[in-house]
Amino acid sequence: KFDYSENFGRINGILMYKLFLKYWNNVEKFEARPDDLVVVTYPKSGTTWVSEILDLIYKEGDVEKCRKDAIFNRVPFLECNNEINMNGVKQLEDMNSPRIVKTHLPADLLPASFWDNNCKIIYLMRNAKDVAVSYYYFFKIVTIHPDPGSFPEFVEKFMEGEVPYGSWYNHTQTWWEKRKNPRVLILFYEDLKMDIRKEVIKIAQFLGKKLSEDLLDTIIKHTSFQEMKNNPSTNYTLVPSEIMNQEIVPFLRKGDIGDWKNHFTVALNEKFDVHYEQQMKGSTLKLRTEI
Ligand code: PPS
Repeated sequence: KFDYSENFGRINGILMYKLFLKYWNNVEKFEARPDDLVVVTYPKSGTTWVSEILDLIYKEGDVEKCRKDAIFNRVPFLECNNEINMNGVKQLEDMNSPRIVKTHLPADLLPASFWDNNCKIIYLMRNAKDVAVSYYYFFKIVTIHPDPGSFPEFVEKFMEGEVPYGSWYNHTQTWWEKRKNPRVLILFYEDLKMDIRKEVIKIAQFLGKKLSEDLLDTIIKHTSFQEMKNNPSTNYTLVPSEIMNQEIVPFLRKGDIGDWKNHFTVALNEKFDVHYEQQMKGSTLKLRTEI
């Protein structure tokens, strides 16, 4: 259990997929373009959802155009290279502008040229407990991960930051520190769930775009959990099953706020809360853990 030695290494002390590290030079020296838009999250925070919203805004609500290719080709995953169907750097280099770039990097690991080119960046975060639940199932379906064991065992690793991309607490804070940068927009998964219209308008404003009511309606409808779950271009069923086995649980699993309540015992929850307070002490970032 949790034998990371085979497929994982470290970057800046953070646990990372060995295959990504093999090509890390290309990530570090990645040449951003000024009109690149970056969507950043800690894993399992709603990247795919926001990516689809952004691509639809860029394609002016042309749903059919979006359906033509998988989300991981339309919004390439910068640091990902699995030597099979994904090579983020290559995909991006081959892409016409304007590009939307997906990454899970903490702020201090984002390639310098995104900062140098003053690119717009959207950081999306989600309740840590729901992230831990989603990550647990992700470990089960993406075959490169070791067996996550029982849920409490996995939560221990999550709290220690011994999961790919490291500590959730550190990751969110590196980005929270950028919140006053006008090129950085910080969003919350829970806000999207509670008032998607308001959040899509906020995103469009950040991009300097005004969306018609019709376009807004189209975007909201097409990016609902059910629509995205049934859409092969967004539900990751185009990923070969030897990489991701969705027979265990679908990638678009539940898409809810508070599913952690079905997974945390009272004792585990108390332990998590104490640790959470310690980790976030002194930070003005207030993410509600109880929702
Ligand atoms: S990844 O692999 O890190 O890029 O995954 P990511 O896309 O960030 O996170 C996956 C979780 O987001 C949920 N999701 C959605 N929720 C609500 N509405 C929509 N449209 C939506 N699309 C994806 C997805 O179901 C995963 O959460 P869980 O809790 O596991 O269901």
